Amino acid sequence: MKDLKTIRGMPDLYAEEMNRISFVEDVCTEIFRSFNFQEFRTPILENKSLFERSAGDTSDIVQKEVYEFEDRKGDLLCLRPEGTAGIVRALVTNGLDNDEIKKYFYIGPMFRYERPQKGRKRQFYQAGAELIGDPSSNADIEVIQVANLILEKLNVKAELQINYIGCADTLEKYREYLRNFLKDFKDTVDEKLYFRLQRNPIRALDSKDENIKKILKDVKKIKEFFNKEQKEKFQDIQKKLLDAGVDFKINENLVRGLDYYTGTVFEYISNELGAQNAILGGGRYDNLIENLGGKKLPATGFALGIDRLSEIINEPKQSGGLFIGSLDAGSKSFAQKIAYQLRKNSSNLKIETYLGNANLSKQMKKADSQSFKFVMIVGQEEQKSLKFKLKDLELNKSFELSEKELLEYFSG
Ligand code: HAM
Repeated sequence: MKDLKTIRGMPDLYAEEMNRISFVEDVCTEIFRSFNFQEFRTPILENKSLFERSAGDTSDIVQKEVYEFEDRKGDLLCLRPEGTAGIVRALVTNGLDNDEIKKYFYIGPMFRYERPQKGRKRQFYQAGAELIGDPSSNADIEVIQVANLILEKLNVKAELQINYIGCADTLEKYREYLRNFLKDFKDTVDEKLYFRLQRNPIRALDSKDENIKKILKDVKKIKEFFNKEQKEKFQDIQKKLLDAGVDFKINENLVRGLDYYTGTVFEYISNELGAQNAILGGGRYDNLIENLGGKKLPATGFALGIDRLSEIINEPKQSGGLFIGSLDAGSKSFAQKIAYQLRKNSSNLKIETYLGNANLSKQMKKADSQSFKFVMIVGQEEQKSLKFKLKDLELNKSFELSEKELLEYFSG
């Protein structure tokens, strides 16, 4: 059995942890739907080239973190490291890249070959929203509102940080400026890091390397490369956020780790998670659809880390449901019959018909420890009389009901 183990960074999920994850997913689905986002599922496997063309072949994700392999035909595939590229690929391959505004959401596993630590896994779960086809800042505000409401519902305190990184042209000019700026420090920077930053200089801005942080103290900010229209757009989004009552902080070093972003970018940061403090990230990607062969359509969106959020929420302990215990082996089938009728009447009602051999007091303890609200024990007598004693464990009250009354009590 020694070899029977999970892959590093890909733990099994069960018990309390699984409950918290489900709870986060349920809240996300509820809020996505309340904004009329439609669910979209794309495959977990994609061609690796999709991510080279979207996340960028100099991004950390593509350089170091993709799980890739050749299939039996020799095609180079990978496990998706994120969800946006797949949605955009799907828009193009299904001819959905038309002018109509579209709002999609997804929930599912993503894979990144990173060093596992608290809040960082190799298989992790994201919930994401993508709003396609609206260039205005109202679209950015809408996705930020979705994010805000999810965090509010989960009772998570996090700081919204935003930045504006201009268009592809501005970004290219800024990259060139940074490359030249860094050249003066070539001898003082670790060689590997230096060459990585020459390929993708923007990442210097959010580098955790102390030396790079010191070097960049006097570097020009991207906003100094903005034209008038870009300055106004950044002002506009700030004003709209204030009007919408959304708190935020501008972080001029926020550049995000994926190459497809332009314009507004944002992250939510929690101080309860240690180093992996980003619980949600997103922004605009106005060129990605066109770059992947579709129409030129603006888009914005975000994804949140379900695993990370599940580590910092307190899932409300909700009692509910009915536990039907039995006094003897022969009453188990009777309990199942009653439970089946109850379930037909009310599909939302959780019912456990106890199958084990524990005695009455142990059955009561089980019902209580699993947070059942109601408990009912059946035996020979109940089978004969068709009268049931229902106990409300929350109110600590019991009442007697006929079969009809029982069905009525739990109907709807
Ligand atoms: P991202 O910032 O790479 O963005 O990931 C979004 C969130 O996924 C992060 O804020 C974090 O909470 C979670 N996450 C990332 N890596 C890990 C990991 N190894 N373990 C646990 N959680 C992790 C994107 O993926 C973009 N596709 C978001 C987006 C959608 N932008 C526009 N639309």
